[in-house]
Amino acid sequence: MYNSKIIGLGKYVPENIVTNSDLEKLMDTSSDWIIERTGVEERRHVVKGDGNGTATMGVKAAKIALERASLKAQDIDFIVFATMSPDYYFPGSGVLAQELLDIPDCPALDIRMQCSGFVYAISTADQFIKTGMYKNILVIGSEYQTGGLDMSTRGRNISVIFGDGAGAVVMTRTENNQEGVLSSHLHTQGKHAEELSLIGPSTRRWVPEIITKNDPEDISYYPNMNGQFVFKHAVVRFTEVINEGLKKTGWSSDEIGLLIPHQANLRIAQFVQKKFGLSDDQVYNNIQRYGNTTAASIPIALTEAWEEGKVQPGTKVVLAAFGSGFTWGSVMIQW
Ligand code: COA
Repeated sequence: MYNSKIIGLGKYVPENIVTNSDLEKLMDTSSDWIIERTGVEERRHVVKGDGNGTATMGVKAAKIALERASLKAQDIDFIVFATMSPDYYFPGSGVLAQELLDIPDCPALDIRMQCSGFVYAISTADQFIKTGMYKNILVIGSEYQTGGLDMSTRGRNISVIFGDGAGAVVMTRTENNQEGVLSSHLHTQGKHAEELSLIGPSTRRWVPEIITKNDPEDISYYPNMNGQFVFKHAVVRFTEVINEGLKKTGWSSDEIGLLIPHQANLRIAQFVQKKFGLSDDQVYNNIQRYGNTTAASIPIALTEAWEEGKVQPGTKVVLAAFGSGFTWGSVMIQW
């Protein structure tokens, strides 16, 4: 059995910065409220027609990751693409990335695990590398979600939090079983599926049904979130799944070099930091600048942390996520 390790990282965010003051002009909200409850100061929004989409942003991040890994796209054996905002209902965005990267016949798998998507994607890639089936895997997390948000006061509890962007990593095999991904821990709890969801369009709310009824009250095509319920579950599950990883690896919380929590809400990250007694240097947050970019949030944060020199050979890195499903998970990486 091999281990898998990350050898290249990249990120891409749209140029268009949307500040809290910009949102104040669209809905009844205030910058103070947003910062106090979520920590978000600004986020990036795709502007329709700017050429950015879920696959294209993912590929921009992937090209940077490939260059830093000193690999060509054609060296990639498998693409794992995590998103909850795919370009099409079907096929998935992974096939579009394969085409854009021009890697003939390269298999591509979409992962639909929302905010836990990147953790699930890394774990999936790790299994394929461990068994020897594939050597080099490109893992992408990309989201263009702001085009589908309710930007009126009605949708303010969600629309102020989310943003667009992409991150990607290149993973490869190593024969050193002391480095790379040491363990991953994945969970779901479908009974809370509708607490954070987008119900229609889907097979439960087919588009023709929505159009035919033409009911102005039917806003099932917008995401809905029971914010306080999500918050309460998030803090519990983050804690549990990080503990699971610590137990498996035998690491103490003091030894964590860098925790990268999915950027759901700064308050959630701060709660987790306190729970484990971590210093500010041990936790990386950038939700202030990007909001919650769902499957892209961890790879964007990991890339920035690496660019800032916070991830070095030998650093013990913990990735942890919680999101719609509910889904949650962690990945323990010896860099
Ligand atoms: N601006 C101003 N007021 C807002 C607002 C906004 N953007 N969004 C909601 N409010 C209002 C509500 O309408 C409510 O008003 P009311 O008291 O008159 O009814 C009030 O603020 C409090 O709403 P509440 O939902 O109780 O606030 P909260 O403290 O729970 O914060 C969230 C809301 C969404 C920020 C918070 O619940 C949260 O972050 N939850 C977790 C979300 C998350 O992590 N999602 C992603 C998971 S991966």
